[in-house]
Amino acid sequence: MKIGICNDHAGVEYKEKLVKMLSARGFEVVNFGTDTTDSVDYPDYAHKLAEAVEGGSVDLGIALCGTGNGMAITLNKHQGIRAGLAWDIEIGRLVKAHNNANVLVLPARFISYRKAAHIVQTWLSEPFEGGRHQRRIDKMAL
Ligand code: RB5
Repeated sequence: MKIGICNDHAGVEYKEKLVKMLSARGFEVVNFGTDTTDSVDYPDYAHKLAEAVEGGSVDLGIALCGTGNGMAITLNKHQGIRAGLAWDIEIGRLVKAHNNANVLVLPARFISYRKAAHIVQTWLSEPFEGGRHQRRIDKMAL
């Protein structure tokens, strides 16, 4: 499985740790984020990740910024993206089980790295439930 990851300056540290954790678990990770703490504009990175997920060069995406909201709002402008913001483990589970989020968004300034890593692992391993949730997803597109 290939995972794209993107971040702004607020997400650099967690991005680096997540790349190591995911690589050690056998995932191929493609980095679309900035690699320094110099201030940048999150949409520049969100669009790159969204295009990669929509185009199929990666299977899923993870995005990090300070609150997660800038990334989530930008990613969800793309019709092929369902980006879900998760700040605890149960929300990370439900954003896959119910919303089948193809991009997980994390608020790097508001959760510990330990929690971020746990949310990522939960979201990756949780199956989508389908059924009524698929019907609701089918109604999302404009
Ligand atoms: C950057 O300071 C911050 O605005 C950004 O990381 C994010 O929180 C935006 O939604």
